[in-house]
Amino acid sequence: AAFETFTDLASAKKFLAEHPAPIVVKASGLAAGKGAIVCMTDKEANEAVEEMLGDKAVFGESGKTVVIEEFMDGEEASIFVVCDGKDYVILSSAQDHKRVFDDDKGPNTGGMGAYSPAPVVTDALLDEVKKTIIEPTLKGMAAEGKPYTGVLYVGIMVTAKGPKVVEYNCRLGDPECQIVLPLYDGDVLALFDAAEKGELAKLGAPKAPKGSSAIVVLASKGYPGSYEKGKVVTGIEEAEKNGAQVLHAGTKMVDGKLVTNGGRVFGVVGHGETLQAALDIAYEAAEKVQFEGKFYRKDIGKKGLARLAKMGK
Ligand code: GLY
Repeated sequence: AAFETFTDLASAKKFLAEHPAPIVVKASGLAAGKGAIVCMTDKEANEAVEEMLGDKAVFGESGKTVVIEEFMDGEEASIFVVCDGKDYVILSSAQDHKRVFDDDKGPNTGGMGAYSPAPVVTDALLDEVKKTIIEPTLKGMAAEGKPYTGVLYVGIMVTAKGPKVVEYNCRLGDPECQIVLPLYDGDVLALFDAAEKGELAKLGAPKAPKGSSAIVVLASKGYPGSYEKGKVVTGIEEAEKNGAQVLHAGTKMVDGKLVTNGGRVFGVVGHGETLQAALDIAYEAAEKVQFEGKFYRKDIGKKGLARLAKMGK
């Protein structure tokens, strides 16, 4: 996306006056996944720069430089590329749900749920992503004397003009990791070992994933703002009876009792032959885990199901 950076409020506001919403305002530094504010109105955009560059400096040092960026319209997807400096393999694609509430409403979070593979990533789209994004990125890094080894997480927006990069991360992503790795048809440790040793070519391309996985994040009331901790958790055993996995994100043991200790408390994972089956397992289990203030999005995978229906699958 086209962008400009700002370190003073007056210039940022002047730029906003010349570039109407929708527009994206980002804290340039790390902000736990909460620093990118998608502003649908000029008022929201002005408030966002005031929060970052004004006296309150809500994002502290991270918000002292602000990036104001073109709004990209489309469906988001994530592509996971394991790289060894020369070669790469692509794992199953995923779609995260970054906004806190259903229908992509409310502030951004670290991720409220995801599913894999993402039907929006068709073979043709993946080919385009390889040619226009992954290969130029890896070649560019090698040409700068910094060949990339590790996981390259390419967040894309599938716009009317084709796929565009939203972000690069050098990790697998949370909650995407929890659903992408189980779909890898092989030994993940051997894959990472080969990447580290520069031997990915020996492993070859992974097989297309069988089935689907989905994860629903159970969060504490108030997240991604302030929330209470220390709420007693029950129902995990019951929840896992249908084959779901309840993965801990923000919990701890206090006096022999499991209690909440974070904004994102659990990721509940379901695996199935279809996306619908994976979602059914995850959601049935998500209901059974109990703690005061629990909330979760009810529409994880909705876009994927709609796209599959459109594709007649
Ligand atoms: N879920 C988004 C990320 O981990 O970057």
